[in-house]
Amino acid sequence: MGAGIPAEIPQLLDHLAVHEKCSLDLDVDDATMEYSVGLDPQALTGGALAPLLRPMFLAIVSAHVLAAYLAREDATRPDGFVVEGPRAGGHNAPARGRPVLDDDGQPVFGPRDNADLAKVAAVGLPFWLAGGYATAAQVAQARLVGAAGVQVGTLFALCAESGLDPAIREEMLAELAVGELVVRTDPRASPTGFPFKVVTLKGTMSQAEEYAARPRLCDLSYLRVPFERAPGELGYRCPAEPVHMYVRKGGDIADTVGRKCLCNGLTAGIQLGQRRRDGYNEVPIVTLGADLDGVAQMLADLPEGWTAVQAVDRLLGD
Ligand SMILES: Cc1cc2nc3c(=O)[nH]c(=O)nc-3n(C[C@H](O)[C@H](O)[C@H](O)COP(=O)(O)O)c2cc1C
Repeated sequence: MGAGIPAEIPQLLDHLAVHEKCSLDLDVDDATMEYSVGLDPQALTGGALAPLLRPMFLAIVSAHVLAAYLAREDATRPDGFVVEGPRAGGHNAPARGRPVLDDDGQPVFGPRDNADLAKVAAVGLPFWLAGGYATAAQVAQARLVGAAGVQVGTLFALCAESGLDPAIREEMLAELAVGELVVRTDPRASPTGFPFKVVTLKGTMSQAEEYAARPRLCDLSYLRVPFERAPGELGYRCPAEPVHMYVRKGGDIADTVGRKCLCNGLTAGIQLGQRRRDGYNEVPIVTLGADLDGVAQMLADLPEGWTAVQAVDRLLGD
């Protein structure tokens, strides 16, 4: 789990694994009081629950400071870390310090945005490195600095079984083959407010005209956040929903600018896009990591593409 500071999760898992009552704090916008959601497994099910195996918990971190903080106490200590750099696919941690955009509107990441791996290793828990690890040499390098392994997204997103719309995947591979595949870090696209990697592709939400043509609508709503309507009463809103609705719910209009509906865009990318009664078909948004050298090498060796098994073999150097 990434997205914030997952300090409550290890203890939550401890409780749930032995069917104990537990609760999780809720982050509520505009809150004037504290909120949490509770669960009592015995009360919910009437008891007599079978024993459970507590799953391992890996926290995704981008800074060694967070790794050290989480590891300090039993209650917050994960079983390990995924250490993700700013070039990884999907969401990224924001750049540290004052936000600066380059001429192309992308956040500028610096040396401080890469975790100090020696300090992560010194925490003493296993860790996996993520972001641009797509070759056996890179995996070997990761292990050399003490990592248990790597977490890989882009190499698998481009493999035959990834589930991405084959037309999109083939277009990306064709552009990759001629060195023209572009992945940008969009500081605005994600309703979460975190930077999000977006592939620049015709016919997707990366194009200004496609974005402008989409009637704003929030129906899948996976990224809605709770806000306080009145003390003790919650509503839900998303900065990518229709602007007037977001504002009516007390949201700041500035938060809506450039926001894209990742819920509908990402599902459209795996051919599960919704078709609207008015004839509008949801347009995909596609994410990949920004480090494409390893996948370009893979494609040079396997110009017809690859399977997930071939990707694993490649990473293991077989
Ligand atoms: C298509 C795609 C979808 C992803 N979805 C998620 C996700 O839902 N949750 C998450 O924590 N990371 C997600 N990631 C990030 C990966 O788990 C991984 O850390 C990252 O892709 C590693 O960098 P790489 O893309 O350079 O291999 C995604 C990455 C890609 C490429």
